[in-house]
Amino acid sequence: MPCVLSMLLSPVQTMLCPTSPHLPCPSEMNLIKDRLQVNCSGQGLSVVPLALPRSTGILLLSSNRLASVSTAAFQHLPELAELDLSGNALGALHTGPPLPLLQELVLSHNALGVLPTLQGLPALTRLALAHNNISGLLPGAFRDVGQLMDLNLRGNQLRTLPEEAFEGLAMLKNLDLSDNALEELPPGLLAGLQLDKLSLSGNQLRTLPSGFFPEGHIFAYVYLAGNPWRCDCGLAYLRGWIEDNDFSIYIQEQRPDGLLTENDPHSPVCDEPLRHHGSPVLEFKQACGKAGDTMTKIWISMGQ
Ligand SMILES: *[C@@H]1O[C@H](CO)[C@@H](O)[C@H](O)[C@H]1NC(C)=O
Ligand SMILES: *[C@@H]1O[C@H](CO)[C@@H](O)[C@H](O)[C@H]1NC(C)=O
Repeated sequence: MPCVLSMLLSPVQTMLCPTSPHLPCPSEMNLIKDRLQVNCSGQGLSVVPLALPRSTGILLLSSNRLASVSTAAFQHLPELAELDLSGNALGALHTGPPLPLLQELVLSHNALGVLPTLQGLPALTRLALAHNNISGLLPGAFRDVGQLMDLNLRGNQLRTLPEEAFEGLAMLKNLDLSDNALEELPPGLLAGLQLDKLSLSGNQLRTLPSGFFPEGHIFAYVYLAGNPWRCDCGLAYLRGWIEDNDFSIYIQEQRPDGLLTENDPHSPVCDEPLRHHGSPVLEFKQACGKAGDTMTKIWISMGQ
């Protein structure tokens, strides 16, 4: 054992490792979560410290210099329930060695380009991957983390997604795909999901395929603003859905006094064609016919 850091329980924190550049990680009981919280944030660490209390329940390792991490590095912490690795330089993540009690894994603000199929995390309910460099997801990437309720992929490089990207996530409530480069989405992407909150804002979407939103499912919040919606007959499905679900269309804005979330069914606006540029999708009205089927002609009356 290279270093022994004594912490907590002792009134004076002593460091039995004079050559280590690192200070011991302070720890305290998190009374709200009833877990021992160890704070190793911002210590310039490039490896996961070995000398941590065995009863660590929450481990904060944010703002360090970790470039790669394996769940093997936490096998000596059998009670680990929350792990914060945000703001490192993580380019690689290896899962496999199990962390049976881990519920929250925060990997935001790293450099992950590929997300491996997650394994050995049966209790995971929250996974934060915002602001990485993820350009694609494998089909069934989250198949083995079926308890996931909150998945944040905001601010990555996603252009497209396989239809099975979120397969098996029956518990998922909150899916954030905002601020990516999504140009199109497959029709079955949300099949089998029961989301409360879906964010697609800040992408490159021009339309959504017919039947994209599961029939009859009511969302609490859907964010669609900040996409270059193309207001022609290809948008008839989305326009109709917005009209039927106007109570669930929200917008988020950064205001001086904080983040404002407000119901705004007019927030998705047309980018093209030019004559509709900047006008709400909801107000876009045009006669659209289905080729070869005049009986089921969709009529969206022209209005100004
Ligand atoms: C953890 O330690 C860092 C660096 O000392 C400090 O800035 C941060 O506020 C601490 N976080 C918590 C939750 O105590
Ligand atoms: C992000 O990924 C692309 C390849 O997909 C790579 O060229 C680029 O260097 C990566 N950027 C960072 C910051 O890692």
